[in-house]
Amino acid sequence: MEFAGRRIWIIGASAGIGAALARALAGRGARLILSARDGAALEGFAQGASGAQVLPLDLARPETLAAAVATLADQPPLDAVICTAALYEPGRVADLDPAQTEALVRVNLLGLFEVARLCPPLLRAGGQLVLFGSVAGYLGLPGGQPYSATKAAVNNLAETLAAELAPRVDVRLVCPGFVRTRLTARNRFAMPAIVTPEEAAEAVLRGLGGRSFEIHFPRRFTLAMKLLRLLPYALSLRLTRRLARPRPGTPA
Ligand SMILES: NC(=O)c1ccc[n+]([C@@H]2O[C@H](COP(=O)([O-])OP(=O)(O)OC[C@H]3O[C@@H](n4cnc5c(N)ncnc54)[C@H](OP(=O)(O)O)[C@@H]3O)[C@@H](O)[C@H]2O)c1
Repeated sequence: MEFAGRRIWIIGASAGIGAALARALAGRGARLILSARDGAALEGFAQGASGAQVLPLDLARPETLAAAVATLADQPPLDAVICTAALYEPGRVADLDPAQTEALVRVNLLGLFEVARLCPPLLRAGGQLVLFGSVAGYLGLPGGQPYSATKAAVNNLAETLAAELAPRVDVRLVCPGFVRTRLTARNRFAMPAIVTPEEAAEAVLRGLGGRSFEIHFPRRFTLAMKLLRLLPYALSLRLTRRLARPRPGTPA
């Protein structure tokens, strides 16, 4: 797919996969609009080679998203909106902190509903709306809440949007396996088939050039997760219960 000259808005561009996507797209000549809370990080990137437009926002504060949308509504239509923004605070349900849970749901789920509501009118006909769910949303695994419940909801939201917005908007769902970012730096367990943000960004860009609704990678991991989801509960829950048992030497 040719990205040169395309106007692409990345929400979540200050770190991780979103920042790697910004670098990869700038290298291909895309005209970028970059958003996240950390405006200084975005400005740092924009003042380099990219010449990107910076619109800081916080998905937990819907008025900041609405202000960015109003700015872009006065500009030429976008070719794509890519939203990678999310918070990660994994744990066991019994240990959840209600305020932290609310903050996470506010960004990962309510924020995405606002992106889904406000961004499609900014796109040209045939433009792409790209939401980041996760393989963590395929099946409820132990120790992953409330993050994984919000990702299951995003997977579901993208399915609905693909039906509701067709054919004007080309909706895509990205479900990564493990990617080495600050998000996964908090995990205290072995992460099979982990890839770099740069590898993730290349997989996303390849997927956007293809026709599949879901872009998932690396396949050696995501296909195993898909198989787990397809098993009858009697089998899949037997496997996930094993994961929930504390193992000797494993940190709590
Ligand atoms: N890493 C993985 O293994 C993995 C696996 C599956 C799915 N995913 C999904 O992939 C996406 C990107 O993950 P990542 O690993 O790149 O995460 P990351 O390194 O933590 O980056 C997240 C980005 O989202 C932005 N963000 C967070 N809260 C925000 C808010 N309230 N408003 C606006 N922007 C906000 C962050 O910027 P600021 O802090 O500057 O706001 C940052 O730019 C997420 O949706 C994640 O759920 C990741």
